Amino acid sequence: MSNAVARPPKREAFGSRNVFILSAIGSAVGLGNIWRFPYVAYEGGGGAFLIPYLCALLTAGIPLLFLDYSIGHRFRGSAPLAFRRMHRAAEPLGWWQVLICVVISVYYAVIIAWAAMYTWFSALLTWGPGNENDFFFSDFLQMGDVSTGLSLEFVPQVGVPLLVVWIVTIVIMGFGVKRGIGRANTVLLPLLTLMFIVLVIQALFLPGAMDGLNAFFTPNWAALADPGVWASAYGHIFFSLSVAFGIMVTYSSYLKRKTDLTGSGLVVGFANSGFEILAGIGVFAALGFMAQAQAAEVSEVASAGIGLAFVAFPTIVSQAAGGPIIGVLFFGALTFAGLTSMISVLEVIVAAIQDKLGWGRVRATLTVTIPLAVISMAFFSTTTALAVLDTTDAFVNAFGIMAVALAAVIVVAWVLHKLPVLQEHLNRRSSFRVGLIWKLLVGVLAPVVLGYLFISEIVSKASETYGGYPDWFVSVFGWGMVIALVVIAILLSLLPWSRSSHAKDDPEYDEFLVEEKYEPDAETGTIQVQTDSTQKGAGR
Ligand code: ALA
Repeated sequence: MSNAVARPPKREAFGSRNVFILSAIGSAVGLGNIWRFPYVAYEGGGGAFLIPYLCALLTAGIPLLFLDYSIGHRFRGSAPLAFRRMHRAAEPLGWWQVLICVVISVYYAVIIAWAAMYTWFSALLTWGPGNENDFFFSDFLQMGDVSTGLSLEFVPQVGVPLLVVWIVTIVIMGFGVKRGIGRANTVLLPLLTLMFIVLVIQALFLPGAMDGLNAFFTPNWAALADPGVWASAYGHIFFSLSVAFGIMVTYSSYLKRKTDLTGSGLVVGFANSGFEILAGIGVFAALGFMAQAQAAEVSEVASAGIGLAFVAFPTIVSQAAGGPIIGVLFFGALTFAGLTSMISVLEVIVAAIQDKLGWGRVRATLTVTIPLAVISMAFFSTTTALAVLDTTDAFVNAFGIMAVALAAVIVVAWVLHKLPVLQEHLNRRSSFRVGLIWKLLVGVLAPVVLGYLFISEIVSKASETYGGYPDWFVSVFGWGMVIALVVIAILLSLLPWSRSSHAKDDPEYDEFLVEEKYEPDAETGTIQVQTDSTQKGAGR
């Protein structure tokens, strides 16, 4: 053995299974649950949407969550290392997931910054009565037009909190998995849950709340015949559960060896959905109040995404008794939910760099997060931020997360035939055993549904220029960005792994393989690395 080669730092771990579960729920419960789910559900037929939603959760969300857990826990690595240990040629899938997280992190941070500012604005009712829409788009975002090109004009009331969000997340990440991510989730998730429960109870007592709930839960059965509704249920579940973009692979690689994987997955999956449905109830109760106050229908006041959180909610805050408290709870919860998801997104990238280069925590964190903070500031604290955010979010969901999920299930199930190995690993210590149905859901149903969604998304996004933005803009931030992710992922997988990385020499992984009586991995098995004669060939 060459004594010039430094040993990689010991792999980090969560303090306990409970901390892992809290962190996984913290990752899953995010901006998607609080502002996205209520309007996706409403547009998808209200109460009737719960049927496609539950189908998507049970047939794709939870089965793929188990798949992510089994990959991360069996191959014990960040996404690129775990896929590489499965098969050398699968490494690009891991980098693709890392790059999706790069894109998500840079825009996710700015929504957290808005939410943090709106927590403050709610207390003071800064927007002024009846001025919520103009305040958000003109005064706060100072929204400009992208048709003349990207703006370099800095918007300080967005840029400064954005910088603070990055500093907070960098500090949490720098403390590592146990002391940083684990502790942050242990504090923030219970706090967020408490705030949210108080908010929902308060919303339910607003006049008109029941009209809102009726609008939310009254089923529009005709919507079930629309394939688009099923597509949006499946599309939503991946983002919401943090499945298929590396997060759960990375987090489960930090779990102790002897652990109940599927039991944890069920807790995480149902906690996330519980939160989501609670968010729907809270948001629609509040919208019912708003409709009554304006003598309008709930359908007239229910708006989509950003408009729902940053225009409709401030209107409710202005009009309701105790509005500032509702606002502080809502935007505070949105900020905390965003932060716990943001750190999980960044962890995918930091862990990958640590594994590939054999670096320590602080060095990898700073090297990854500082450039990302600069990119995030450059694109999202200017007057054209909203257009960039809208386009990158839509494309990275449709052609990033959904496409990599499709590629991963095809490669794992059909090319590498790894489902039996992963099933065996899941069943070793789990309370809930998976069988043929799990393999059929992951290997057959998921590719069919994802393939359908992928093709229909291509058709819909290619048939008209997305969002009415200029062609050059959608070509760069939409199509160009998603294609670049694949190309860069392949290039990154071709770069050699550091000689001091976990892929080359990982005594803990070797010990794990021996203790579990697993065969060394065919392509990258680190066990051979321990002899001089095999060191040259192994792990590359
Ligand atoms: N799962 C996270 C969310 O819902 C990313 O926002």
